[in-house]
Order: sequence, then C-alpha cells, then structure tokens
Amino acid sequence: MLICQITDLHIKAGRRRAYGVVDTAGMLETCVAAIGRLHPRPDVVVATGDLVDYGRDDEYALLRELLAPLDMPLYLLPGNHDGRDALRRAFPGHRWLRADADFVQYAIDDHPVRLVAIDTQVPGHGHGELCPQRLEWLDRTLAARPDAPTVVLMHHPPFATGIGHMDLIGLAGADGLARVVARHPQVERLLCGHLHRPIHARFAGTVASVCPSPAHQVALDLAPGTRDDFVLEPPGYQLHRWDGATLVTHTAVLGDWGPRHPFREDGRLID
Ligand SMILES: [Fe+2]
Ligand SMILES: [Fe+2]
Repeated sequence: MLICQITDLHIKAGRRRAYGVVDTAGMLETCVAAIGRLHPRPDVVVATGDLVDYGRDDEYALLRELLAPLDMPLYLLPGNHDGRDALRRAFPGHRWLRADADFVQYAIDDHPVRLVAIDTQVPGHGHGELCPQRLEWLDRTLAARPDAPTVVLMHHPPFATGIGHMDLIGLAGADGLARVVARHPQVERLLCGHLHRPIHARFAGTVASVCPSPAHQVALDLAPGTRDDFVLEPPGYQLHRWDGATLVTHTAVLGDWGPRHPFREDGRLID
C-alpha cells in the first residue's frame, strides 16, 4: 500500500498569496499534478491539516477544486488554521468527517494499513491539544483492532522540535498520547504536519514524523528565541510505502530538476 501525505496547504480565497508572498494555490496545483504522474499510483492521499488559511467556506471551495484531480480516496483532517464545520460543509461526501460530533476524528478500515485520524485543534489558537475525551476515543479506537497495522494522522507533532517559535504552539497533552500509543504496538507511525519541513522523532515505541509542505517551509533555525520566519526551500510531500511488514517513508521534492541520469560512465556501470 502506498500512502501519499500532503500537509499545510494554506489555501486562501481568490488564490491570494499567503503572507503576500506564497502562491499556495499554484503550488498545490503543482503538487497535485506531480501526484497524478506517480507510478505506481498512491492508493490513498492523506492531508494532515492547515488545509486552508482561515477556515472559511470560500477557501474550502477553492481547496476542493484544487484537490479534485486526485482520483484516489482522500482523507482530510483539521489543523490550527482550519474550521471544523466549514471543512465538513465543503466535503459532504466525506461522511467520516462527521463520525465524531465534537471533533473531526475517524478510523478508516478499507485499506491494508488502518488510518486513524485524531483532531488536535483548539479553535482560535495556534497550539494543539489532546484532551481526555480525544485520548479516550483514540485508546478505544486502537483497542478495537489490535492486529491491524495502523498509522495515526494528526496535525501537531507530539514532540518539541527545537524550532522555538513552533514549539510555543506545539501539542498539549503529548504525555497522555504517549501513554495511549505505548499500549498499542500496532501503531506503525504518527504522521503529522504543522512544522512545514520533514522531521522525525522516536515516540512511545513508534516513530512520529512530520511532512514538508507543498508551499512554504518553516525556516530551519534552532537558535533560542529565533524569529518566526518561513523560507521558500524546495517544497514537497511524502510517500509512505507499506510492504506488509515495514512502513518506509520517502520525501519527494517538487520542482523541475532536469532529466534522470544512469549510473554509468563510458557505458560502464559505476557502483
Ligand atoms: Fe501550517
Ligand atoms: Fe499548523
């Protein structure tokens, strides 16, 4: 099974540029076109939050248009920039978005890897939270299928990254999440967003990873008190390949990097 992860799309109404700089709509179009050219084709696409910039209906209407060329199952979840109700209104066919009345969290059992999405959003705030109600749901949901290899999808990663201004809007309740995840060894990975760059950390007996954005990246600056800057480094997405035993992650970089070249010199294989 091939899981394609995209995250932090930050679509704005009228195709306006994020922060006056980033053409998030155009960059998502580039990403969707690249996914469409993949061979083998991903079985599913998951989008781990900050789908739009202000949680508005007109932003979600544009998001829906931009994602329409993806013809594989698509699973969305909210980040701190999203609006739960507007997200649900924009994708009425995605019945799983309404599986839980209070939060946008759900389990998908249609694929070789089980997808469990949890909602870390705190409306009106940048940081995330996993309150006892959400953790109890996760524990119960994971307990229902202990033998199913599972990835947990969430927006805020459950660890400090060292990028100070992002850690200030990190995840509250990560200790409780660690206790839940440690009880369920079928969790192959926590797939996260929010940080706009590829990051990985060991967490509660599994791995928590962050996917880059197809638009802007958070500046890699580990100095204390760093400013909250973004950079236009090469954008990307991730492919998570499950071969029945191991989940392997590849980070794909978007852009035109020229043709492929064989590992040969003067007709001889160079190894
Ligand atoms: Fe974001
Ligand atoms: Fe975020």
